Amino acid sequence: MKNLVDILDLTKEEIDDLVARADDIYRHPAMYSDACHGKILATLFFEPSTRTRLSFASAMMSLGGSVLGFEQAGSTSVTKGETVADTIRMVAAYSDIIAMRHPYEGAPIVASSVSKVPVINAGDGGHFHPTQTLTDLFSIREKLGRFDHLTVGLCGDLKYGRTVHSLISAMSRYEGTKFVLISPKELKLPDYVKEEFLKDADYVECESLEDAIPELDILYMTRIQGERFADRDEYERLKDSYILNAAKLKDAKPTLSIMHPLPRVNEIDVDVDTDPRAHYFDQAEGGRYIRMALILKLLDDGVGLDSRLRGEENPELRCSNPHCISRTERGIKKLFVGDRCSYCDQAASAK
Ligand code: NCD
Repeated sequence: MKNLVDILDLTKEEIDDLVARADDIYRHPAMYSDACHGKILATLFFEPSTRTRLSFASAMMSLGGSVLGFEQAGSTSVTKGETVADTIRMVAAYSDIIAMRHPYEGAPIVASSVSKVPVINAGDGGHFHPTQTLTDLFSIREKLGRFDHLTVGLCGDLKYGRTVHSLISAMSRYEGTKFVLISPKELKLPDYVKEEFLKDADYVECESLEDAIPELDILYMTRIQGERFADRDEYERLKDSYILNAAKLKDAKPTLSIMHPLPRVNEIDVDVDTDPRAHYFDQAEGGRYIRMALILKLLDDGVGLDSRLRGEENPELRCSNPHCISRTERGIKKLFVGDRCSYCDQAASAK
């Protein structure tokens, strides 16, 4: 594997190896403190971040490497009209590995198609967030000891929540997974995610968190993604759809794992924080070790170009997603796999 754009770029065996490596790093950090001496990680964040950017930086520093990058596109030549492809070509000349977050869906695919160093997707719009999923899987293995036969409740913004999309795609590969998709009807899981990952899966959709809680092994709470709403009033109306508190957990399993990619807004009351089943802060801490394991793997594997770009040009079609990179990036081929856009996976429409 040379880039991590989508969690499915990793096989289940590679995920097991990364989780085991992260655990070893956690137990024996001194053994890894020089492993990336002389290497440079570039963190390119065209969108806000706390945990992802800082845990990537912390991971590289803990491996003895260095970090450069930016936290706001506003301070870069993007404001002068530079394309993603040109920005990445330059950064690849100044670094050994790139972690990027971008508001446009599919931007890391464009990046991986021109970069001579490995590219990691640290979140692309409302599409995917594979390194959060690695963080989630590391936590699940630590707290529950397995990935199979788990009933996973995902609650909140399933429409725009990229962490949810990547976690579903990863967990759908394990035997006996049941998904309970808890959201207001306006924020249901998009069809492209359902069609791609839930075709043969056991899942139910519901609106009541309280009704769902008793059967869950994992409750994955998410923030309503205000920044992705076109209509501010709709966000105001939906933002407090779910608030988990201690009282709502009275019928939950004693072994439940309460997770959240963070940041939380209102969706988990602070009275849950002291419950031993509240795992979200440990989950975030693990992000440092799993990213160390990922950086080591990509620097070992990642030589040369290995673009995920696939599909065919089709002059009849146009991607229907206004947040797709293919709508803004100049000079790239508009590619489709069947009637789906190759960059953002959403349905294309006739021109
Ligand atoms: C998430 C993200 O950026 O998608 N945060 C993170 O990376 N831990 C979740 C969110 O912003 O709600």
